[in-house]
Amino acid sequence: MSKARDREDLTRVGPGTVMGEFMRQYWIPAALSGELVADGDPMRLLLLGEKLIAFRDSSGRIGVMDQRCPHRCASLFLGRNERNGLRCIYHGWKFDAAGQCVDMPSVPADQDYKAKVRAKAYRTAERNGIVWVYMGAREAAPPLPAIEVSLLPQAEMTQHFVQRRCNWLQALEGEIDTAHFGFLHMGSIEADDLDPDDPLRYTVMNRTPEYHVADAPWGTTYAAYRAADPGRLYWRVANFLFPFWAQTPAGAFPTHVGARAWVPMDDEHTMFLHLHWQAASPSVPARRRDGTAPMYLTRHHDYRPNDSGWYGRWRLRADETNDWQIDRAAQRANQSYSGIGNIHLQDQAITESMGPVSDHTFEHLGPSDRMITATRRRLLRAARAWQKSGTVPPGVDDPALYYEARSGFFLTEEGLDWRTAYRRQVEAAVRPVSARQAAE
Ligand code: FES
Ligand SMILES: [Fe+2]
Repeated sequence: MSKARDREDLTRVGPGTVMGEFMRQYWIPAALSGELVADGDPMRLLLLGEKLIAFRDSSGRIGVMDQRCPHRCASLFLGRNERNGLRCIYHGWKFDAAGQCVDMPSVPADQDYKAKVRAKAYRTAERNGIVWVYMGAREAAPPLPAIEVSLLPQAEMTQHFVQRRCNWLQALEGEIDTAHFGFLHMGSIEADDLDPDDPLRYTVMNRTPEYHVADAPWGTTYAAYRAADPGRLYWRVANFLFPFWAQTPAGAFPTHVGARAWVPMDDEHTMFLHLHWQAASPSVPARRRDGTAPMYLTRHHDYRPNDSGWYGRWRLRADETNDWQIDRAAQRANQSYSGIGNIHLQDQAITESMGPVSDHTFEHLGPSDRMITATRRRLLRAARAWQKSGTVPPGVDDPALYYEARSGFFLTEEGLDWRTAYRRQVEAAVRPVSARQAAE
């Protein structure tokens, strides 16, 4: 297959596309529970190129359905969310959270055919503060994935969404492109700037690590390594998890419980979801020796107010229209390598700057991009296998496989096989959710 064809298959997410159909086999995290209030305003929700309306009914159930009323296609966004259903304001037809038409007041009672009419509704689930949607065709939806962090009680995890204006794949690839860390995020930091016991020192002492990359049951994994103190190696391990999740190496391995989803809204917009265990040790403890924090440490997301539009949720103020608020003076003075405010925004600016759908035929991928190449290959193989022969995508029927995936940084003695090193770390890791709980 040509690169151009691969790119099409990887990046397009609408109904009938290779990746779109593949992703529809999985549960998709779509909103925060708090965004939907019982009998509150219906919410526009764009998922995999489909225009949907989400609402919470009087009993707390969540409905997610095609925005078009199945009568004459008026938008259900304008509907009345009342008494356990969403009522279209055109002719008054009413639908329950599962999409069944439950009232058809514009039709004489003896000709009523409401039992035969259903809105195109999707299955929903709610767990620990996140609303999930299943857009697949199975009669019985598969189980929710046992992604460790998502099993924590809501009060114990950080949850936030941020919209990104670009295709989902290049957004996700920003997470597994570990070579950029020593430049984009840490390029202005020297080892002498950091405390001698700060492990980030190793990433700036040597900005060209070696890598192991391999397929994993949940997707792909890489281990970047470089020399630390004599006889010791510094490792940064991270994962891609089907179909759009990543676990980054930015955190001390034993407590680094987190996952990040890159949910396609459509081909050119992505909704990022960050989930992180609050009790984990801080991901980026780095301070300059003089006590000052590098500017990239700001954690705050500067959002525009949400509005009710298709692209109205969780947008940042910094975007292409204001050059992501780049500070050229800070860049020039090397206060920050990029001049862009914080780690998240730096990644956001870079991946948005590639254009709406990055052109793979223009790229020159090399040795430091092996994780990206391997992940594209793994995704294409799995998605085409589903398309051609109905091979069930990894993790759909075996959700526990996600529980095995962990990431983070750690030190070992030299000469240890990387898989052994990883397994030892996983065995010794803190598990805030037990395997038994995860299986429930
Ligand atoms: S279009 Fe919705 S009730 Fe007629
Ligand atoms: Fe980054």
